[in-house]
Amino acid sequence: MAKKKLALVTGSGGLIGSECTRVLCQQRWHVVGIDNDMRRWFFGEAGSTAPVAKALQKNFSAYRHVAIDIRDRQAIRDLFEAERPDFIIHTAAQPSHDKAASVPYEDFDVNAVGTMNLLVAARDFCRESPFCFTSTNKVYGDRPNSLPLREFQKRYDYANGRDGIDESMSIDASLHSLFGASKAAADLLCQEFGRYFKMPVGIFRAGCVTGPQHSAVELHGYLSYIVMCAVTGREYTIYGYKGKQVRDQIHSHDVARLFLEFYAAPRCGEVYNLGGGRANSLSILETIDLLEGLGYKMRYSYDPANRIGDHICYIADLTKIRAHFPNWRQEYRIGRIVEEIVQRYAVPASTGGKRGI
Ligand SMILES: NC(=O)c1ccc[n+]([C@@H]2O[C@H](COP(=O)([O-])OP(=O)(O)OC[C@H]3O[C@@H](n4cnc5c(N)ncnc54)[C@H](O)[C@@H]3O)[C@@H](O)[C@H]2O)c1
Repeated sequence: MAKKKLALVTGSGGLIGSECTRVLCQQRWHVVGIDNDMRRWFFGEAGSTAPVAKALQKNFSAYRHVAIDIRDRQAIRDLFEAERPDFIIHTAAQPSHDKAASVPYEDFDVNAVGTMNLLVAARDFCRESPFCFTSTNKVYGDRPNSLPLREFQKRYDYANGRDGIDESMSIDASLHSLFGASKAAADLLCQEFGRYFKMPVGIFRAGCVTGPQHSAVELHGYLSYIVMCAVTGREYTIYGYKGKQVRDQIHSHDVARLFLEFYAAPRCGEVYNLGGGRANSLSILETIDLLEGLGYKMRYSYDPANRIGDHICYIADLTKIRAHFPNWRQEYRIGRIVEEIVQRYAVPASTGGKRGI
């Protein structure tokens, strides 16, 4: 009988890491998940991913949880040496643009140094194993805001018929936030291990990844957070751009399936822009309309000051991903994504008011 493959997933309690873990276990992989619930330290109790990690351990016998810190270089080396995984998915991070300014050392140590620790351990103990890194569109800083835009009644969009942003945009000489800078450092390290050491490392620059598993807080997890506000009656604050800022949403399940495509056909140091694309793009005002259509009238206030460096309109151009992974299709359209998150927060009377994870 063929030996079961082993994947190592960092941030396995988080939105993307937990979805990757579920998909891998369902496809008969063994998974070692690293997560020390640092999201709770970043965002407080509401941000904790411990219940998700617990549920994975309960639901999948092929899942093993390791609560180490990716900043702990020796612990990471020891784990890689012992396990020598066939596939690495690295999602552990300080994930918030705005939070980074108040925790600059931790942001850099987790995002940049933690990634370096994983890359060196992978090079030394399993250099042939495909390695997916979840980068971010914030590596482009606020450069997307310099593109010509058109203002519509409920959204901004690109002028000149541009469909989206591709990988040729410069990551240099723009305002990034400390988060964007620490992720750009990690993004470049991943590219370098791919090019210099010829390792199969893929860099996926995501925009808004979403799904019902997000431990959403105001500072991270936009779509889950706004849906949660609508469903639970909490007031939502729009920051700037008249609420017309646009994001393209991709479900974490579609991200996990893409990473498996990369495992099957890896390339060394390749960069991809990853998002839901134009069909899955929505402004905040359009999101509010969609939720009202589902019967959830939002209470919201408006603060004219936009978040520093916030994108006005970001839609990923998926041409390169579709060319390199022709079997990959997005299964989740925006309506289905929103309905699924609504289900998470809606409280059916039969549960006695308990929400599921
Ligand atoms: N969710 C998005 O919209 C989005 C968009 C672009 C990029 N990304 C990137 O994708 C990755 C995953 O995002 P997510 O939304 O799943 O984040 P998340 O916060 O839900 O999950 C990250 C997990 O990593 C864990 N973690 C943090 N620091 C750790 C450390 N030092 N050691 C071990 N574990 C640690 C956290 O406890 C958390 O469970 C991040 O790198 C993020 O920058 C996410």
